[in-house]
Amino acid sequence: MPNENKSCKYMGPLCEKLEKCEHYQKFAKYRDKVLALSNDSLEKTIAVALSLCFVCAILVSIAAVALRPLQIENKALDMKKNILDVAGLLQDGTDINAAFAEKIEAKLVDVATGEYVEGDVEAYDQRKAAKDPKQNVALTKDQDIASIKVRAKIAKVYLVKEGDTIKSIILPVHGYGLWSTMYGFLAVDADGQTVQSINFYDQGETPGLGAEVVNPNWRALWKGKKVYDESGAVALGLIKGTVDNSKPGSEFQVDGLAGATLTSVGVTNLVKFWMSQEGFAAYLDKVRTKG
Ligand SMILES: Cc1cc2nc3c(=O)[nH]c(=O)nc-3n(C[C@H](O)[C@H](O)[C@H](O)COP(=O)(O)O)c2cc1C
Repeated sequence: MPNENKSCKYMGPLCEKLEKCEHYQKFAKYRDKVLALSNDSLEKTIAVALSLCFVCAILVSIAAVALRPLQIENKALDMKKNILDVAGLLQDGTDINAAFAEKIEAKLVDVATGEYVEGDVEAYDQRKAAKDPKQNVALTKDQDIASIKVRAKIAKVYLVKEGDTIKSIILPVHGYGLWSTMYGFLAVDADGQTVQSINFYDQGETPGLGAEVVNPNWRALWKGKKVYDESGAVALGLIKGTVDNSKPGSEFQVDGLAGATLTSVGVTNLVKFWMSQEGFAAYLDKVRTKG
């Protein structure tokens, strides 16, 4: 066949080897037999369909493998973007990698003790660690107000510093809403008490209802809210309806999401969990006392 000869000219040694291969000879014989069949024959239809599936499967596999590094890179970039966003450092045209490298410092924290721990900060994946029995802690029913069942022993927190002064502490938080586990970041001042911002980068609540957790207008209501009351308990949470800022206690309240009470309860619970002793209270105490 002229086409075969032409491709063999380029593929040279490979084609020669293939021609000698016993399996290829069997395949070529079968291929010629199928091609000689009538287009209406069942065997030819099935053989052509299977060949097409085979070729497509190979193409999809090659694409999946080839694009994997790009996917990982984009995922990391997206995470940096979310962290810069909650830190208030994201503007149009911000060079995300450069801004992150310049302004954000990632640290690993032992959640139980609140102490920093050594380790490969870049490589550490808290979500993966939370699924590994060696790296997680099971929560009792009473402890598990955020409905997450387990939490990673080590958390990855982010600091925004100016010189030696901490400007923001960015804490990873997550908890169950109505339909999904909502993953986000809560940024607080160095006092560990005053909220700067919150964002949710991964959630599966209903658009227009629970998914309003990503709405910038709602997110803006968190700025300046306080986390702990005088007794040291976590008082911050969502209320049903709109907060009356003239009333005492309003500094601990954020508007609930309209028509999404269950997601709102989920947000309150995840904030309560992660800011309590089961979460980052020990760490925030250390930051307050040691700086
Ligand atoms: C299709 C559909 C999607 C809903 N999605 C949410 C949601 O994402 N979050 C939520 O809290 N409630 C959601 N709800 C409403 C809840 O079922 C429940 O009625 C609501 O949380 C009560 O809130 P309300 O007291 O503010 O009306 C949804 C309801 C329907 C019918």
